[in-house]
Amino acid sequence: MFKKLKKNNKKLQNYAHKIIPGLSGLLGKRPEMYLPGGYWPTYYSKAKGIHIWDLKGKKYSDFTMLGIGSCVLGYADNEINEVAKKVISEGPLTTLNPPEEILLAEKLLNIHNWADQVKFARTGGEMVAVAIRLARSYTKREKILICGYHGWHDWYLATNINGDKNLNNHLLPGLEPKGVPRGLQNTVIPFNFNKCEDITNIVRKYASESAAIIVEPARNTLACRLWLETLRSICDKNGCVLIFDEITCGWRNDTSGIHKELGVNPDLATFGKTMANGIPMSAIIGKKEIMEEAKNTFISSTNWTERMGPACSLAFIEKHKRLNLGKTLKTKGEKIRKIWTDAAANAGLEISLSGILPLSSFKIETKIKNEWPVTITYFIQEMLKENILASDRCYSNYCQTDKELAKYKKACQKIFKKISFLSNKNKLKDSLNGPVKQMGFKRLN
Ligand SMILES: Cc1ncc(COP(=O)(O)O)c(C=O)c1O
Repeated sequence: MFKKLKKNNKKLQNYAHKIIPGLSGLLGKRPEMYLPGGYWPTYYSKAKGIHIWDLKGKKYSDFTMLGIGSCVLGYADNEINEVAKKVISEGPLTTLNPPEEILLAEKLLNIHNWADQVKFARTGGEMVAVAIRLARSYTKREKILICGYHGWHDWYLATNINGDKNLNNHLLPGLEPKGVPRGLQNTVIPFNFNKCEDITNIVRKYASESAAIIVEPARNTLACRLWLETLRSICDKNGCVLIFDEITCGWRNDTSGIHKELGVNPDLATFGKTMANGIPMSAIIGKKEIMEEAKNTFISSTNWTERMGPACSLAFIEKHKRLNLGKTLKTKGEKIRKIWTDAAANAGLEISLSGILPLSSFKIETKIKNEWPVTITYFIQEMLKENILASDRCYSNYCQTDKELAKYKKACQKIFKKISFLSNKNKLKDSLNGPVKQMGFKRLN
């Protein structure tokens, strides 16, 4: 069937939906999250740098998040690939353990000298689940205070058991907690980023009965230092574990977690996403007394012991440092933001920007109320016609050359003008070739 359908996007997507519920293992890779109606390429044949080829061999420049933020060195980086090939030829998973784990643990502890020990997994969500288990086991408490997106696991979705809006301010609105045991109700309490009132009204209220406070130190903006320091002192006073979830924001501004530049140390920190440039890898670092709980509670998985992840992560961190990649990613972020603001000014559009520089995003404020979903769908649709994969987010990448950025700029200038023209005539929605894109989580079709 695949062979028969592979040249027809729409039919292939429909077929995939029939045999793979939701089509993709990641909500953010469903075509409906970009461009519904069969227009989004959805599947790729190969990728290199910021380029990606669909199943018909058509080449696109990827100006989205490049592997949902996993490939800051660009797709199929030669150095990482060489390490991966060597691991495959020498045996990626055996009865014994990969020595690269020790080298990587040493490297992470050298970068973050407040931490004493390290453990590894392969995805972000499971790494955070490990952090939560360790904190609960260490404190013998159950409640968790959260601020951010922390994956799909039961412990996190429990936040929405008493109403599916509790997580609406934490990246993905409308997450359904179906299938999550009702017994977990009220075990997770959300609070808002950088918001001092929430510290007083929520965090202080529940801290003494909580196992952990977990936050992303950067999301739409960098966490305010005072806010983090306050969380630090609340944890110290109340005996709860402070966890920084660096799965998205780590390895962006510097060859480290972003908390290093904020000058506040957690008790545990989790890393994932780009830490091996697209090869599955995640890590938790932390203080000895909490990490040692891993001996008292059962945490174990076969594939966490394969060799490719730690070997490629070592190569990634070394290359990141050598290139001073954090500086480059910030500069690229500045250039991308300028492209958006200039294009908006030229088109007479109002625009707002968010995210730290390497994880930038924009929003256009058109005159018609609630027109943003239509506007961003139109933007994605028209950028695709320029052979560019685009969305409201553009993560900085080592392979975004000035030539590629110039191409992106030209396309943004053109499409922003069209948006302005069509929106003024109230014709933006009529100009869509298919339905409006899905904005958050809806029950999978
Ligand atoms: C801060 C944060 N934590 C956890 C996760 C979950 O990671 P994964 O998708 O690798 O399971 C993500 C994913 O986007 C994230 O951004």
